[in-house]
Amino acid sequence: MGHFDMDKLKDGTLLDYLCVDVFIKDMVAARALTSAFELAVIDALVSGTPATCDALAQEIRAPQGGLKLLLRLLENAGVLEKIGEQFRLTARFSAALRYRDLLLAKLDFAHIAAHDFINLFSVLIADPVEFMKRAGMFRLFNYGNALVSTPESHNLTARWVRITTMLTRYEAQVCFALHPVGAYRRMLDVGGNSGEFALQACRANPDLAATVFDLPVVCDVGSNHLRHEPEAGRIHFIKGNARMDALPGGNDLITFKSMLHDWPDEEARGFLRKACQALEPGGTLLIFERGPFEIGEAGLPYSIIPFLLFAHTFRSPDLYVECLAEGGLSDISVMWVDLEMPFFIVTGTKGDPKG
Ligand SMILES: C[S@@+](CC[C@H](N)C(=O)[O-])C[C@H]1O[C@@H](n2cnc3c(N)ncnc32)[C@H](O)[C@@H]1O
Repeated sequence: MGHFDMDKLKDGTLLDYLCVDVFIKDMVAARALTSAFELAVIDALVSGTPATCDALAQEIRAPQGGLKLLLRLLENAGVLEKIGEQFRLTARFSAALRYRDLLLAKLDFAHIAAHDFINLFSVLIADPVEFMKRAGMFRLFNYGNALVSTPESHNLTARWVRITTMLTRYEAQVCFALHPVGAYRRMLDVGGNSGEFALQACRANPDLAATVFDLPVVCDVGSNHLRHEPEAGRIHFIKGNARMDALPGGNDLITFKSMLHDWPDEEARGFLRKACQALEPGGTLLIFERGPFEIGEAGLPYSIIPFLLFAHTFRSPDLYVECLAEGGLSDISVMWVDLEMPFFIVTGTKGDPKG
């Protein structure tokens, strides 16, 4: 594996979002925290004013017995601290609450994955294809539901798109710190989902316009997601299927973020072939993906279980490097970054026949 390019992250706050994982380390703590959100215990304390168990029980209308148990678990988890008879949020948890959207999405994701981990881990190890047929995780991420718009398909798609969007919101900022987008004018994000990756790129570069290419219902959910953003006018969606359709031309940056790992080698090669053809001369193709799983001495936290279920899909960058070279790109480079697990950015440039 290549070296990690962490020193390029000059803005020391870019990785701060990873602090949410501290509160999703184990299942008991994470489940207690989800209940604290669901029962509005967190909201009752968010102003900073401490409250007794009695006062909290009245506010959230729950019996004191159960609430006491929950408060004790939250204390153990470092979410709350007790001063005399009163509870308040710890400074560490208050800091993590700045990423409330991400924290909620990661909790949701971990709880969904936990069912499959408990029930089907042996199947995952012995027969990954069978696992994908049976796992709730893969029913959730069912792209077949994103082809035709109905109220039901919209709701089903919106649930997983919310999770990918929250992850991408923060991962994108790391990507664009490592590979700045200031010089590009037109970006195409293939499998661009809710448009969050394109949004972060457009926010980083006011002269950039972006096209998000994704399945029809995903594009509907994405347009809705971006509708209040000042950058929305610079981002448009194309409803399509990258397996069958040609990719639009006129882009000097084509990106694939956490998209290619979903596909067997042949399909991934096909997507990249099309992208190399569609890219403007002088333009860049960028792939941002999770790398193969690494398990250190400390083992794995509860928050990583969703990604553990996809472990067999995370490739090394070698196939992508090969495809970019076959597509005639040059200056191919691989950059690694260690987020909650290893990620890499592969880039290549299309030679300009005029220059
Ligand atoms: C794992 S998600 C990653 C989404 C997004 N790039 C991100 O990182 O947040 C894969 C994306 O590929 C899209 N996708 C799946 N099959 C596709 C196809 N045949 N054509 C275009 N997009 C597709 C999905 O709808 C989804 O948005």
